[in-house]
Amino acid sequence: NQLEMELEAIEKGGYEHFMLKEINEQPRSIADCMRGRLDAKNGRLVLGGLRDYMNKFQNADRIIITACGTSWHAGLVAEYLFEEFARIPVEVEYASEFRYRNPVISEKDFVIAISQSGETADTLAAIELAKSKGATIFGVCNVVGSSIPRATHAGSYTHAGPEIGVASTKAFTAQISVLTMMALKLGYQRGTLSETRYMHLLNELATIPSKVERALKLDSKVKAIAAEYKDSRNFLYLGRGYNFPVALEGALKLKEISYIHAEGYPAAEMKHGPIALIDQEMPVVFIATKDSSYEKVVSNIQEVKARKGKIIAVVTEGDTTVRGLADHVIEIPETEEAFVPLIAVVPLQQLSYHIAVMRGCNVDQPRNLAKSVTVE
Ligand code: G6P
Repeated sequence: NQLEMELEAIEKGGYEHFMLKEINEQPRSIADCMRGRLDAKNGRLVLGGLRDYMNKFQNADRIIITACGTSWHAGLVAEYLFEEFARIPVEVEYASEFRYRNPVISEKDFVIAISQSGETADTLAAIELAKSKGATIFGVCNVVGSSIPRATHAGSYTHAGPEIGVASTKAFTAQISVLTMMALKLGYQRGTLSETRYMHLLNELATIPSKVERALKLDSKVKAIAAEYKDSRNFLYLGRGYNFPVALEGALKLKEISYIHAEGYPAAEMKHGPIALIDQEMPVVFIATKDSSYEKVVSNIQEVKARKGKIIAVVTEGDTTVRGLADHVIEIPETEEAFVPLIAVVPLQQLSYHIAVMRGCNVDQPRNLAKSVTVE
């Protein structure tokens, strides 16, 4: 009815869809997530939920991360973060697989369950299983008071605010923000991160909201790219290192809301299969920021170009090499390699959003999908 429609319009805050609103909220939601936790100037990082369990965390033999969907992608980013900064081995598991394969778990394992809704049935069951084996369970959830935070020993909320669009956007960047703070804290406590490096990273992390704000300004450019490729039947997303999970997330966003088949792959794996798909009809989205795998990604781009694939590349501001190779470049602000996913995912969210709108899809409530999957 009329009242409901008006209420919804108010909730959308002037945006056409919740998803667009939530994409644009990210500078604020990331800042909200870090507020009261990160005080970069004074070199302080406090995660209240971690305090009583820091000892267990620091001395864990292994970190097991379990989640589903987009939250699982945040877990993959965290694998790189924890291993790089804290030097503890990490396993990232789909909750649905983990719970049924009789996994080896001990009291020395620190299990992190990531969930926007806090209600995903498989994630909840994975937690119960790990708990029964004596592991410590830490939740990274968005919805306060939901089932997962109640089932864990401790946790940190992501404070992204309500996420209405079925395709997760701001919850994803908030999850990564919490996990990044956890990894930095852990690395510092364990001594695997030096004081100066730690301080530098804290200060850089504090700049992320404003860099995401700058990335959001790419919207009209991304929209023009969307118009050109909206009728494609397939998309490939490629990245390496920290940007491999970003490639997976970019592909998932496109599938979820535009119903275009898309695959995310580690760029180097392309030659073991996906390269066979490449022709002039195939848009390939590269995340090719200036980082430790940059040169290698550039040669992957050349391989795609040689096969006439259409190249859309997310690059670091000022990059000229990729500009010379790609059909389109999207320049994002430079940051520490470990923090790039927080920025690089933004234009991929925008790309899927615009393509879905142009195809007339129901962006906020895509067919067959649910915001939270409370049955297995
Ligand atoms: C559903 C949603 C996804 C979400 C996944 C995990 O599939 O559509 O957006 O990533 O569940 O949900 P959770 O609430 O556990 O993060």
